[in-house]
Amino acid sequence: KEKKDLQGKNVLVTAGATHEMIDPVRFIGNYSSGKMGYSLAEELARRGANVTLVSGPTQLEVKHQNISRVDVRSAEEMYVASEACFAKMDAAIMCAAVADYTPVSKADEKLKRNNEAFSIELKATTDIAAALGKVKTNSQVLVGFALETQNENDNAKKKLVKKNLDFIVLNSLKDKGAGFNSDTNKITIIDKDNKTREFALKSKVHVAIDIIDELTRYLANR
Ligand code: C5P
Repeated sequence: KEKKDLQGKNVLVTAGATHEMIDPVRFIGNYSSGKMGYSLAEELARRGANVTLVSGPTQLEVKHQNISRVDVRSAEEMYVASEACFAKMDAAIMCAAVADYTPVSKADEKLKRNNEAFSIELKATTDIAAALGKVKTNSQVLVGFALETQNENDNAKKKLVKKNLDFIVLNSLKDKGAGFNSDTNKITIIDKDNKTREFALKSKVHVAIDIIDELTRYLANR
């Protein structure tokens, strides 16, 4: 029998990459597939939650009827959509690979090439997780992700504090088959009290179950 232990809970998930437009046909992006975020959304919905999936551009499709998907393209659009619905959420999982920088201006027409060097001026995007962390109430649970190449645990812990997260999911890049565009992932969950739990390499569907199990424990204690 299916467990519906998240019945009635409202959960926001951000997923995928963002595309920062340079001109009408070019953008700055990244290799995030959205698979982890979509797996989280499906697992949440399966357990009875009402899921709002704020999704960057992806090939993936939503299956469960309890997931309402909001399609966005840029970091700015993702921020606006996430901020707009956060107040009514019991939890938010920030799984998207949001661009850190975006062009200061977008060209209205396709840029023409010449043989000169060319540079694009960039400005920092809004840190969506940190923005939600600032307005989070005591009853809301905020979860983030970290992808680190060095001092993994220390850097993840710093992010947890800086963004005011309840727990952070560290993706290991050292393990073959983990991270971007892969169907599998290997995670460590670090919480506010510095408690760390390492999990084995698993499919993203099974990793989603581990993360949602942890989230469910947090929600039960609120
Ligand atoms: O600081 P860093 O980008 O490594 O943090 C990753 C975490 O912060 C992820 O949970 C990601 O979804 C979130 N994030 C965000 N908005 C940004 C950058 C990161 O929500 N502009």
